[in-house]
Amino acid sequence: MKLVLLGPPGSGKGTQGDRLAAQFGVPKYATGDILRDAVRRATPLGNDAKRYMDAGELVPDEVVLGLVREALLAPEAAAGFILDGFPRTVAQAEGLERLLEERDVKLDAVVYFDVPEEELIHRLAGRRVCPECGAVYNVYSDPPAAPGICDNCGSELETREDDREETVRVRLRVYHEHTEPLLRWYGQTSLLREVAAVGSVDEVYDKLLSVAGRL
Ligand code: AP5
Repeated sequence: MKLVLLGPPGSGKGTQGDRLAAQFGVPKYATGDILRDAVRRATPLGNDAKRYMDAGELVPDEVVLGLVREALLAPEAAAGFILDGFPRTVAQAEGLERLLEERDVKLDAVVYFDVPEEELIHRLAGRRVCPECGAVYNVYSDPPAAPGICDNCGSELETREDDREETVRVRLRVYHEHTEPLLRWYGQTSLLREVAAVGSVDEVYDKLLSVAGRL
């Protein structure tokens, strides 16, 4: 399975990508998670990326392409992988194409998560994350057993810095401007599949399986 998950902020790429990765035993590479980890560890990459991420803007293409090149060279990626949140610009998609050609690998599909904007805003407002183990919750649709506390490790949950309302607005604008053109780009290939990613997490996963499970 060699998949790209494409969609706006809050469309459920991370939630569904984790499930697919666990069920099919392939690694999931989420550029947002890799960058947030670098920010947390205050590496030079993280320090540089932080200002873009906090503002809701995209980290420069060459930085992200370097991260994905490294990920795809890992031995675990040889049998398959899921890319979550990458590519996000046409330049990144072209870079990915070159990386895959070098490795003589072809994508199976690019799955687009289609979710109405008001639902995205609602989901992002309700998202809470565990800073220790990375678990993701939602106060509306998937709350922890004890409010504000991670079920897995007992840590206090946080709101992601870029889930503040004004930053969400910037992220949606950036998505429309830079990432939506990829729908046309991949639409010219036979790779693009669309999933109406609304309904419960289980319902969306079933729809995704009906697309990805056949690959
Ligand atoms: P990134 O972390 O990739 O953010 P994103 O793409 O904006 O996506 P999100 O993580 O916000 O949402 P998601 O689709 O994964 O949804 P989730 O499953 O969590 O990127 C962050 C930043 O990093 C970017 O702004 C940029 O600065 C930088 N960056 C990353 N990649 C880059 C790249 N390639 N190029 C340049 N810069 C890059 O779900 C959201 C919430 O909804 C959760 O609370 C979840 O529990 C809930 N939920 C999920 N499914 C459902 C459902 N079916 N019903 C109800 N609630 C649901």
